[in-house]
Amino acid sequence: MTLTSPPYDNLRVYNGYVFPFKDIAQELFRITKDGGVVIWVSADATINKSETGTSFKQALYFKEIGFNLHDTMIFQKTNPIPQIYRKRYNNVFEYMFVFSKGEVKTHNPIKIQCLHGGLELNGTTYKNYSKGVQKREKLAQPVQKEKIKGNIWEYVVGKKAEDQEAKGHPAPFPCALARDHILSWTNKGDIVLDPMCGSGTTCKSAYQFERQYIGIDISEEYCELARKRIQVCEV
Ligand SMILES: C[S@@+](CC[C@H](N)C(=O)[O-])C[C@H]1O[C@@H](n2cnc3c(N)ncnc32)[C@H](O)[C@@H]1O
Repeated sequence: MTLTSPPYDNLRVYNGYVFPFKDIAQELFRITKDGGVVIWVSADATINKSETGTSFKQALYFKEIGFNLHDTMIFQKTNPIPQIYRKRYNNVFEYMFVFSKGEVKTHNPIKIQCLHGGLELNGTTYKNYSKGVQKREKLAQPVQKEKIKGNIWEYVVGKKAEDQEAKGHPAPFPCALARDHILSWTNKGDIVLDPMCGSGTTCKSAYQFERQYIGIDISEEYCELARKRIQVCEV
């Protein structure tokens, strides 16, 4: 599995980089095993009054080179950065595209409690205009206790202690986001790659949950920050 977040358009200047998107995507296809997934966390800049649409273009390119677009998930921010009002609603999310090479091999779905779990429902009546009024008593089962989580995941950004460790980096994603993807799409011992690992959030979470990890970043400074974060876990 690859979990990564590329530089978004030219929103931030990290420590100076080149970003050959197509080469990176093709290499990800080459090294992903059949059944493996790439989670691509991205968003668009707004330039000249229009969103660039780069995330969509990238997603379609991943499809063009052979990946399935398995799921378009949303990373919703509980505490988005305050924005200047420009006649649009505050942007509160990023995409988390899940690309798969063939059919997904591992999925350990996260479950959540049903709001009305255990509730005994009465039979409901409804109108079917072709057949008159019908009773649906057979369908009136108690509501199940748990269900599979939806594909909009909400996280607090940058406030938790585990996320504050990444302060030397301008755009880390939350450890909880990394954890949820790693637990969902891999098993213990699997290899997790982040080819643009920044402060090492993916690597740290992979290590904590007994996965193997490979982290790459073009900036030596961020690699050093990532090494430090992982070393803290190892102690
Ligand atoms: C959005 S940040 C990733 C943050 C990371 N997910 C974290 O939690 O800290 C993008 C990273 O991509 C790195 N980067 C940019 N171009 C790169 C390239 N061509 N190869 C490797 N890393 C690159 C930047 O240095 C930056 O750290």
